[in-house]
Amino acid sequence: MIKIVTIIGARPQIIKAAALSRAIKNHFSKEIEEVIVHTGQHYDENMSQVFFDELGIPAPNYNLGVGSGSHGIQTAKMIEGIEEILLKEKPDYLVVYGDTNSTLAGAMAASKIHIPIVHIEAGLRSFNKSMPEEINRICCDHCSTMLFSPTATGYNNLIREGFNPNNKKPFTIDNPGTYHCGDVMYDNSLYFGKTTDNSQQTTDFVAEENFILCTIHRNNNTDEPERLNSIFRALIKLSEKEEIIIPLHPRTKKLLSVNLESETYNKLINSKRIYIIEPVSFLGMIMLEKRASLVITDSGGVQKESYFFKKPCIIIRSETEWREIVEVGAAIIADADENRILEAYRKFKEEKNISYPDIFGDGKASEFICKELISNKKQNIS
Ligand code: UD1
Ligand code: UDP
Repeated sequence: MIKIVTIIGARPQIIKAAALSRAIKNHFSKEIEEVIVHTGQHYDENMSQVFFDELGIPAPNYNLGVGSGSHGIQTAKMIEGIEEILLKEKPDYLVVYGDTNSTLAGAMAASKIHIPIVHIEAGLRSFNKSMPEEINRICCDHCSTMLFSPTATGYNNLIREGFNPNNKKPFTIDNPGTYHCGDVMYDNSLYFGKTTDNSQQTTDFVAEENFILCTIHRNNNTDEPERLNSIFRALIKLSEKEEIIIPLHPRTKKLLSVNLESETYNKLINSKRIYIIEPVSFLGMIMLEKRASLVITDSGGVQKESYFFKKPCIIIRSETEWREIVEVGAAIIADADENRILEAYRKFKEEKNISYPDIFGDGKASEFICKELISNKKQNIS
């Protein structure tokens, strides 16, 4: 039996962790024991608890209740709490997802006390170090022992940064193992995409077809007034063509009235064609993604899900870690630029033959990861 401690904290990590927990429960319960630590980075009911209820994730064994704060304060509190748990639980591996402050804190705490780190969603790079996530993911990758990349681009980034693809098990921090194994989020979308077909789960809007689905939460979009105004001016124009549903992240909600010019703000809140709603559950989100005509987002996860559900995506960032979806023509980078967003919309409306080749694996990334953890541990013992 191997013991893993899984660190979650932000919404997308809770969702990603559901895939591994499900694989453990269904296929590896005799071989893997999972201890779940929630840092408390996200804490609103609709940013955290709803996913445990809906996705069947075991309740966290620990919740550090760290909450919001500056990067330093938030990350420091997490490191302190995680270290204490790791010293007590003595796991074989620490498992972290993605690129948030919870990911970084887990990696910092574990690496200093020599607990091997498993990084799921390794290797992704925006090549933009002003993003806090870019710093988090680079630091985490470089102290990990097993690195699971969802895409070929991610895997190649690791090799370029000096990871040796010829390393053999048993993997250690100085002899790390790198994998291109598919995406645990794709596992989830395939699995829960089927359940929502028959589900009674509903939001107020799922009866509608042909709407634009939009999410915005990236710190440079919410905190830089020029960018936020440009995005919303574009959305207000697009709403003349299609209704728009925006399940709004609390960060953005808090900043709308602060950072939007009064004209744009008034048009937005008086619009009958733009629905700003609370964050929805994961099944609610999948429903919206399936029914939307097009997605506009700065979210990493939503970019991919729009691809999984074969919807064109306008990326309101200056770059993306998910280069493949742009290269095949299913997504367009428009940055927070009103004209580029409108132009991307026009382009997608004219383009009828967008293809969505399989680039995120076979829906079994989580099972593959579990098998590799078990196999590496066996080699360590022998
Ligand atoms: C974090 C991650 C980001 C990820 C996103 C997923 C970092 C540096 N950023 O960004 O990579 O894409 O989560 O959603 O880790 N807030 C609430 N309620 C909550 C959570 C947050 O009101 O339950 C508000 C608070 O005002 C808080 C702000 O949102 O200060 C930002 O939260 P934080 O977790 O620091 O960063 P995110 O923008 O959510
Ligand atoms: N999501 C959700 N409800 C929402 C918005 C997003 O369940 O109202 C899900 C979405 O389907 C995806 C994940 O949250 O699985 C993406 O998280 P987020 O956009 O917060 O962060 P990122 O992926 O950019 O790190």
